[in-house]
Amino acid sequence: MENRSQWGSRLGFLLAAMGSAIGLGNIWRFPAVAYENGGGAFFIPYLFALLTAGIPMLIMEFTIGHKYRSSSPRAFKRISGGMEWIGWWQVAISFVISTYYPVIVAWASMYAYFSFSQAWGSNPESFFVNEFLNGTDPGVFGSVVPSVLIPMILIWVVVFIILFRGVKKGIELANRICIPLLLVCFLLIVIRAVTLPGALSGLNAFFAPDWSSIMDGSVWVAAYSQIFFSLSIGFAIMITFSSYLPKKSDITNNAFITGFSNSSFELLAGIGVFAALGFMATQTGQEISEVVEGGIGLAFMVFPEIISQMPASALFGFLFFASLVLAGLSSMVSISETYIAGLQEKFNISRRTSVLVGVGLATICSLLYATQGGLTLLDTIDYFINNYGIALVGLIEVVGIAWYVRELDNLQAHADSVSDILLGPWWKFSLRFVTPLVLGYMMIQNLRTDMTSEYMGYPREFLFNFGWTVVIGAMVFGVLITMKKWPNEK
Ligand code: ALA
Repeated sequence: MENRSQWGSRLGFLLAAMGSAIGLGNIWRFPAVAYENGGGAFFIPYLFALLTAGIPMLIMEFTIGHKYRSSSPRAFKRISGGMEWIGWWQVAISFVISTYYPVIVAWASMYAYFSFSQAWGSNPESFFVNEFLNGTDPGVFGSVVPSVLIPMILIWVVVFIILFRGVKKGIELANRICIPLLLVCFLLIVIRAVTLPGALSGLNAFFAPDWSSIMDGSVWVAAYSQIFFSLSIGFAIMITFSSYLPKKSDITNNAFITGFSNSSFELLAGIGVFAALGFMATQTGQEISEVVEGGIGLAFMVFPEIISQMPASALFGFLFFASLVLAGLSSMVSISETYIAGLQEKFNISRRTSVLVGVGLATICSLLYATQGGLTLLDTIDYFINNYGIALVGLIEVVGIAWYVRELDNLQAHADSVSDILLGPWWKFSLRFVTPLVLGYMMIQNLRTDMTSEYMGYPREFLFNFGWTVVIGAMVFGVLITMKKWPNEK
């Protein structure tokens, strides 16, 4: 009888899945993506993407993990020998993401500390790039920045301890602490933000629908790519996590709960961020469109400015950056668990050895981002790995399952045999037609953009070495490691 680690309870699994899904993508990516893609009207493509790709793929990944009870590579191998490489490709993508994710968490933890003295002063943008990161030109790494390196190593130590303690006593326990704490911190910020003067103008800008955007293909692409990143689909995470479920566990209902909780948090983040932007625009006499930003710019350049203008700024600054740390940490743990599980099974080593090797390697690679050139490197790798890692592997995964091995009927039978909710025809239809078509279209659009222009105007050679090489390398790694035999494979 196989002795596989298990979650302690259904809630434990749900919290871990939510902890993975709710991450940096919810707080800093969603609000700007929604605003730039039609505001209130964006909710139509977003909901459509959630119901035709997000939740169906989540159900598919939960079912694969639960049915084949193994890490992503081995689960694909058990479906068909020709699919194992897809699992490894996902694992490699997660490995790459896990090398830069802790750097952002490290920045956020330093900023939580900076909130007390508003160390960023009157020009947070210049402080972040020039003083804090001591930034260099694209392609020049310079030396290691101690104020990034030290918190990053501490984050790695925390991740290491959580993973080392295992599924129930490590990952489940960490999420039982992180998720409620995150909710409390974030709710406090949102309540504060919506009661600030000018908040309403921000919310009006966020929800104002631009109906014409619905006819724009790129808006639909943005909705699908947000859903993929945000729900941690194609990362190998959800397959790995559901492989730790006991045999008698609900799948479909759990996927709905995870999907809707993640989207609710996203909506909450949108409200909080735009209320705060409305406040800032009112204070400075600017338009919302002039202050809105996404990603790193929103968190480390715009938010410090908002915090400085807020009453009780130290407290709310701390709560905001602590929320980023909590959301990032729980996602980070889930991303690393994919290669811990994969290595452990493929090389027949103990979990502890696997954690030591996996986290050790990732820590060494992450040192590159703690250099002066780390910001440009992170921005480039994040862009490429999202567009040609996550989205592409998601496309190949769904086409492989739906069309190559034609496994959807079996997976549906398995999901239905354990779940409260039975799957309707929409599930197979979404996975066979809607998701592949939208993701295929998205891939062609992205390739057209990147073949004809340089991302952010960065040097071509730099993009080749750290963008294309990394994404192609992840795929090649997937193929190569597949050649090694599994221990005890019949
Ligand atoms: N799903 C995680 C996020 O949103 C990766 O950041």
